Amino acid sequence: MSYQTILTSVEDATLTITINRPDKLNALNQTVLSELALVIDDFITNPAIRSAILTGSGEKAFIAGADISEFSALDAAGGTALAQKGQQLFARIENAPKPIIAAVNGFALGGGCELAMACHFRLVSENAKFGQPEVNLGLLPGYGGTQRLTRLIGKGRALELLLTGNMIDAVTAFNYGLVNHVVPQGELLLKTRSILSVIHTKAPLAIAACIEAANLAESAGDAGYENEAKSFGKLIATNDAREGIAAFMEKRKAEFKGN
Ligand code: COA
Repeated sequence: MSYQTILTSVEDATLTITINRPDKLNALNQTVLSELALVIDDFITNPAIRSAILTGSGEKAFIAGADISEFSALDAAGGTALAQKGQQLFARIENAPKPIIAAVNGFALGGGCELAMACHFRLVSENAKFGQPEVNLGLLPGYGGTQRLTRLIGKGRALELLLTGNMIDAVTAFNYGLVNHVVPQGELLLKTRSILSVIHTKAPLAIAACIEAANLAESAGDAGYENEAKSFGKLIATNDAREGIAAFMEKRKAEFKGN
């Protein structure tokens, strides 16, 4: 099957999923989310495929976030619904019974950082940069980022990233435990494949059980995700979010007023 915003290919029972909007730094618009949901369903149900690699098109970005140009039209209910749609898809990825590995080849910001964190683990190229810059727009991450980032790197480091919107480079992400390996860009997919080739020699039912067990070990119930989606909806209807989103689109600095 072919998609508008995603490229897929299969080699050695590994599905490579490439988000393909390089002119928009692979930003996640509604079409990407809907198409990715179809790709993930197909991945999960296809017995011939044993693992997946998720990456971005081009050499600059993995994914530079949710598509901000779609935010202006959202009211509180629309914001909450969008966040819940993303959360459901990302939970499906996290709970897939076969490994999905993020090969992060550049910027992983906002929804891109969140999507990488929903994958089972992450390899990155040396130019990768991670961040949750939603606060620059008057928003918070809405696709599970507040929960997964805190679990992966701890509350203090997570809050510093969430509150400043600052980016961290690949080596800092490695030191934080956010990523497993940092490699030159040209070796990113090779290294990911070499790890998957080891996993492919193991018993598939044991692999599924390990993923389920690891997910259970860090699950703290759904309250955190529900709160995040509701906050995303509340914030998107504020004047400050309108200003932050407009400022991004108009390529100027936002002026926040606190309402
Ligand atoms: N949503 C929509 N469009 C985006 C985008 C996003 N999250 N991120 C980048 N783009 C678009 C830009 O608007 C630009 O489009 P244009 O060429 O039509 O103007 C194109 O992608 C290239 O981005 P540009 O900003 O020119 O590249 P840069 O190298 O100067 O900066 C970033 C790169 C990643 C620092 C910058 O694009 C950025 O800050 N993106 C937004 C990150 C963000 O806030 N993500 C969280 C969203 S919730």
